[in-house]
Amino acid sequence: MDSTLIPTDLIPTSSTKTDLFYKDVIAGLRSSPKRLDSKYFYDANGDKLFQELMNCEEYYPTNCELEIFSERTDEITRALIADGDAFDLIELGAGDAMKSSYLLKDLLAKKADFTYLPIDISDNVISYLNITLPVTLPGLNISGLNGEYFDMLEKAASMSSRRKVVLFLGSNIGNMPVPEAIEFCRELRKHLSEDDMVLIGMDLKKDPKVVLAAYNDKEGITKRFNLNLLERINRELNANFDVAKFDHYPTYDPETGACRSYLISLADQQVDIGANETISFQKDEHIYMEISQKFTIMQTDQIAINTGFAPLTQFFDGKKWFVDAIWVAG
Ligand code: AVJ
Repeated sequence: MDSTLIPTDLIPTSSTKTDLFYKDVIAGLRSSPKRLDSKYFYDANGDKLFQELMNCEEYYPTNCELEIFSERTDEITRALIADGDAFDLIELGAGDAMKSSYLLKDLLAKKADFTYLPIDISDNVISYLNITLPVTLPGLNISGLNGEYFDMLEKAASMSSRRKVVLFLGSNIGNMPVPEAIEFCRELRKHLSEDDMVLIGMDLKKDPKVVLAAYNDKEGITKRFNLNLLERINRELNANFDVAKFDHYPTYDPETGACRSYLISLADQQVDIGANETISFQKDEHIYMEISQKFTIMQTDQIAINTGFAPLTQFFDGKKWFVDAIWVAG
């Protein structure tokens, strides 16, 4: 879409983005227990660290999903093409679009009539995709949208009334506690019409040691990934976190399937955030950083049914560690 057509007051300026970031950070660090929102992990540095994570030995979800997408491409794209009418392929949290590229390539080969609308919270990611994908995938219609998922879904709906196929991959849904994930799927359903589809990737419960190791890699990439949010707060909000005074503490509860990351303060300390805010930390006090929920297969179907979708198909990797499910809006 031509940005000159949007009234300028509707374009989020970087200063309103920084205001929101500041408000969320202060609210999170003033609450008890303290918390930060993992959606803020992904600045340019965080994107790079997540790339590194996806290549590290212990972090299995990406490899599992890549296996599914590379070995079941034809079945997946045939299901998405359905009756062959034109559609918008919307990806929530597209990242480097490595996984979806398998689908895009096959959809192009099948001459499917579609536009790819990747949505990402990282403006860095969206400008990268807008520039590189038309080169690596000639003939691709792409229109990247930088912003929050539902704001951008509404924007996508205002751009065209074609059938929607939503990709929500990488177990990004796991970054919400289950009740919030259910609420999210309900909200997603409200933004869709009957027969629209969702292809959703969900990480499954497995050997707890395998799960925990994925969030506690030996090289310490996950630790740096978490600490990067403190560094981002230093950079963008003029704070003075000393990251050497925080340690990374991941946990996995095999009963609930909740994998959580915390940063632990190694000392009594005070941190200034901008000119007007000082936050005190006690030694051993934690900041809750992220949840990466793991699901049972039954749970994935239940979530679909409870939120207005009908589960259509499931695709697994060889180890059954991960599922990509297709849901149809009912
Ligand atoms: C991109 C949200 C799916 O939760 O597994 C990786 C992010 N955090 N290692 C995940 C992440 C720590 C990842 N998601």
